[in-house]
Amino acid sequence: MKPGLDPSPTLFAITLTVVLAIIIHFPLHTSQETQPYDTCGQLVRCGNIEFQYPFWGLNRPDYCSHPGFKLNCQSNVTKLVLESVNYRVLDIDSSTRTITLARNDLWSGICPQYIHETRYDPTLFDRDNYGQEMVSLYYECDDNASIPLAANYRFSCNVNQTQSDGYFYRTSLIDPNIAASMVQCNNNITIPFDRSLANITSESDLRSALRAGFKLQWMANNDDCDWCVRSYGRCGSNSSSPELFACYESGVGK
Ligand SMILES: *[C@@H]1O[C@H](CO)[C@@H](O)[C@H](O)[C@H]1NC(C)=O
Ligand SMILES: *[C@@H]1O[C@H](CO)[C@@H](O)[C@H](O)[C@H]1NC(C)=O
Ligand SMILES: *[C@@H]1O[C@H](CO)[C@@H](O)[C@H](O)[C@H]1NC(C)=O
Ligand SMILES: *[C@@H]1O[C@H](CO)[C@@H](O)[C@H](O)[C@H]1NC(C)=O
Ligand SMILES: *[C@@H]1O[C@H](CO)[C@@H](O)[C@H](O)[C@H]1NC(C)=O
Ligand SMILES: *[C@@H]1O[C@H](CO)[C@@H](O)[C@H](O)[C@H]1NC(C)=O
Repeated sequence: MKPGLDPSPTLFAITLTVVLAIIIHFPLHTSQETQPYDTCGQLVRCGNIEFQYPFWGLNRPDYCSHPGFKLNCQSNVTKLVLESVNYRVLDIDSSTRTITLARNDLWSGICPQYIHETRYDPTLFDRDNYGQEMVSLYYECDDNASIPLAANYRFSCNVNQTQSDGYFYRTSLIDPNIAASMVQCNNNITIPFDRSLANITSESDLRSALRAGFKLQWMANNDDCDWCVRSYGRCGSNSSSPELFACYESGVGK
């Protein structure tokens, strides 16, 4: 039998239509508008990332969230801007309050168009160690620069419309001698990476580490939100004073 001829999906569709009709019809009579409690209880999905408090964006309103945590969804890729650098959100783990981010400008190559350091607001994020290390990328280095060759890797980039050499190092391996010679480079950025990928011996290793991303732990009224969830509320912020935490409670039983 073809699946389309099975009567139960049709029955199901009819039932669903009736149920939907009831749901759409009756709230008009029972409540004036959708309660923040209900809206803020919904998970929002972009690609394979699901998010709730403290994040907002897509169709999740700002009052369900903390103002510092706006996500964008572009072609099913979740993005977050921190200090004017765009990151891809690779994972969100609400139970540990960790977000895994990869720099979008270094996602498909190690030559960014603009050089911006990896920065975040320390009142919103705590870079717990997570066994992470840092890698330093130096750009726009002088031609013929005398840069120590141990444990470094040279690459070439077109930065600011000029082809120039760059170098990368695991930050922990930069000794004072190396640091002194790095004044021959105009720019540098540092990026955390997982220590399991620490044996970076080629540009492709570096690319893998950048694509694996790094973890940050968010701090968004954590204690207030824990307390709110324990009392069956939904965490959010005050719509007139977004810097204030709000706990939305169910209208039922009040
Ligand atoms: C996003 O993902 C959904 C479900 O996986 C898919 O139907 C949709 O076409 C995707 N959109 C884009 C722009 O890739
Ligand atoms: C770099 O070295 C080469 C060969 O030693 C030399 O021809 C060139 O002028 C040097 N470039 C600079 C910018 O000093
Ligand atoms: C880009 O190059 C131009 C000319 O070489 C220079 O004046 C300018 O300061 C450079 N900009 C940056 C951001 O390095
Ligand atoms: C890296 O760049 C910053 C400015 O962005 C500068 O203060 C610092 O001295 C640079 N580090 C090295 C080792 O050149
Ligand atoms: C690092 O990788 C290189 C090449 O893949 C390998 O020869 C070397 O043993 C590795 N070192 C460590 C400490 O794992
Ligand atoms: C928002 O803040 C105002 C003024 O502080 C307060 O009166 C109101 O109850 C707050 N709303 C919520 C939902 O917490």
